[in-house]
Amino acid sequence: MLFPPMTRTGPCTRIELATRDDGFPVVFWTGLHGGDDASGNVFPLLPNGPGMPLLGEHAHRLYTRPHLRGHRLVAGADGVATGQGWSTRFVQDSLDMSDTRLTMTASDADAGLTLLAEFESVAGGALRGRYTVSNTAPGSYLVTGLEVVLPLADNHVEALDFTGRHERERTPQRHSVTDGLWLRESRGGRPGLGAATMVVLGTPHFSPTQGELLGVHVAWSGDSTLRVERDAATAATIGGGELLQPGEVCLEQGESYATPWVFFAAADDGLDGLAAVWHAYQRSLDAHPGTQPVVLNVWEAVYFDHDLDRLRGIADRAARVGVERFVLDDGWFRHRRDDTAGLGDWWVDEEVWPDGLTPLVDHVRGLGLEFGLWFEPEMVNPDSDLYRSHPDWILSSGRRVPLLQRHQLVLDLSRPEVREYLFERVNAILSAHPVDYVKWDHNRDLLEAGTARRAGAPAVHEQTVGFYCLLDALRAAHPNIAWESCASGGGRVDLGVLERVQRVWASDMTDALARQQIQRWTTQLLAPEYVGAHVSSPTSHTTGRTLPLDFRAATALFGSFGIEWDLMTAGDEELDRLADWVARYRRFRGLLHSGRVVRPDSSDPAVQLHGVVAADRGEALVAHVQLDESAHNRGVAVRVPGLDPVATYRLTWEGPMEPSPVSASSPLALDGPTEGREVTGQSLATQGFWMPRRRPETVTLVHLESRRR
Ligand code: DGJ
Repeated sequence: MLFPPMTRTGPCTRIELATRDDGFPVVFWTGLHGGDDASGNVFPLLPNGPGMPLLGEHAHRLYTRPHLRGHRLVAGADGVATGQGWSTRFVQDSLDMSDTRLTMTASDADAGLTLLAEFESVAGGALRGRYTVSNTAPGSYLVTGLEVVLPLADNHVEALDFTGRHERERTPQRHSVTDGLWLRESRGGRPGLGAATMVVLGTPHFSPTQGELLGVHVAWSGDSTLRVERDAATAATIGGGELLQPGEVCLEQGESYATPWVFFAAADDGLDGLAAVWHAYQRSLDAHPGTQPVVLNVWEAVYFDHDLDRLRGIADRAARVGVERFVLDDGWFRHRRDDTAGLGDWWVDEEVWPDGLTPLVDHVRGLGLEFGLWFEPEMVNPDSDLYRSHPDWILSSGRRVPLLQRHQLVLDLSRPEVREYLFERVNAILSAHPVDYVKWDHNRDLLEAGTARRAGAPAVHEQTVGFYCLLDALRAAHPNIAWESCASGGGRVDLGVLERVQRVWASDMTDALARQQIQRWTTQLLAPEYVGAHVSSPTSHTTGRTLPLDFRAATALFGSFGIEWDLMTAGDEELDRLADWVARYRRFRGLLHSGRVVRPDSSDPAVQLHGVVAADRGEALVAHVQLDESAHNRGVAVRVPGLDPVATYRLTWEGPMEPSPVSASSPLALDGPTEGREVTGQSLATQGFWMPRRRPETVTLVHLESRRR
């Protein structure tokens, strides 16, 4: 039996199910299935054979990590002892399936538990699963873990996931699947700067263009777990869920715990195919932004040094180059003269802004720009009026004040009075001014994050739910505001927050050379229109490296384009050139924000290739990025996948290009990389077009257009 069934037409991520002797479903296979071959159950149900029950339990001779872990707490007089209910043996009660939804209910009367398993086939073809466990018996049941886990095809033997740090998010790492349990955990109350983001398992040597793959992602903005497991008796499995701290979820009779949605996406055309599945899903979301405006954020221009005249001057220059949205970052609220004070005091600072924000907002909007504002609602500085009046409002284990990070502590959003205060304050600011955009920041990890409501017991789960509640309430009150998820850069990038925001600040790294990597891998999950990418000052504040404007702008072009440069320091020539790039972005953003991301393989490690092919395959924009000095003069073939094989394409240079030869390599032909000849999509996919070696730190753009346009 396949889910989704054949009536859900077209290729999508499917599971192949059979039933065990006791009627419980077993999943034999997970992968991309075209829906054109109904022959199911090709694997026999044998001990040590392929397959994994929909819930893997110790009681069925599985010596791997049980998918549900928990036990009863002492219930006193009725004699229930701590530890009971630890080994479940669920019996299926019902199994229902429609074109896009599968539900199974099961129960274990001895353990006093029921289970609901839900799987949905979502837009774009991914499959998502969520489990709910309920306590039906008297006494408390402590849930220590519940994960959604599926078996892997045995040719999926290589793994890719991500790690990173501040200013270097989503650094890829690879390894082979071996026996044992491999876990990636986020324990900082947000996915984190070093988040795994997803785990991808695939056939040997999979690349952006090749390989069968299965990617897994937990759609949750708090603590999470991703797991890959194999042992001598059990085929490899992959899955994930929420990471629960000790005592965090304790169910009384009648209470339930639901996991976040865990997404599984399969592809047979490499990492680009997998990215396309995630992007198609995001583009189906109600909150999806559509095409993104050109943003100017003043953070790197002024930091905490807010001065109305200076900001008005920057806004004038922003308008001159074609910016559409002006964002006032950190530093506008009471006592916030640097990052040591003020978080929590969400009133406009009377000293720095004696007439409030209105003069700036009016000026910005008078120029025809939208106005955006920065908040960090979940945080408080000990040096703030809020903390002085409510020191008890922080998350802590109850024993001590947690160690500071960036001079700040975290407010306990599980408490209704804290959420009410924050809603009232943020709502007051948003209601007093015509704000079009909010950058919602979160600049520290959660540490010893317990709640006073339960004597310091862990509360990251409730904090995450509280964050969603607060953001949802503000979204409902201000339906026309666009929201950005920022957490010291890209520390809160997940499909849970993406149901609620229109943009993500991918990284505080604003050096374009370093950004090439961060954006390349952030788009493995996020569609490019979500990925905030800004043109920074000529000399990067983060690396000290000086890069040409064309390189900086061509790097930002492929994301949600913006500027983070003090335009008061830019000369007329630079402003004109920047205006050309803004115009180019506005011309291409329809294509860039709806097409398929492609990352052609490059035979030269000093050259990185990427681009976007239009959804109708009628055009593409491809970037040849010369990162560094090549070790040779051979150049590279740029093979563009995903074009219409029978259409012919005209190739032209787009934007500034430098035709001169570099050392002994060839000059660029002025009439395009194929010297004006049209080339079929088939030939572009297999032979590609030729690009000679370029100077380091240059981007050369090629526009491909089919004749039928
Ligand atoms: C971290 C963000 O990533 C920056 O862009 C900026 O908003 C600062 N916080 C402000 O404190």
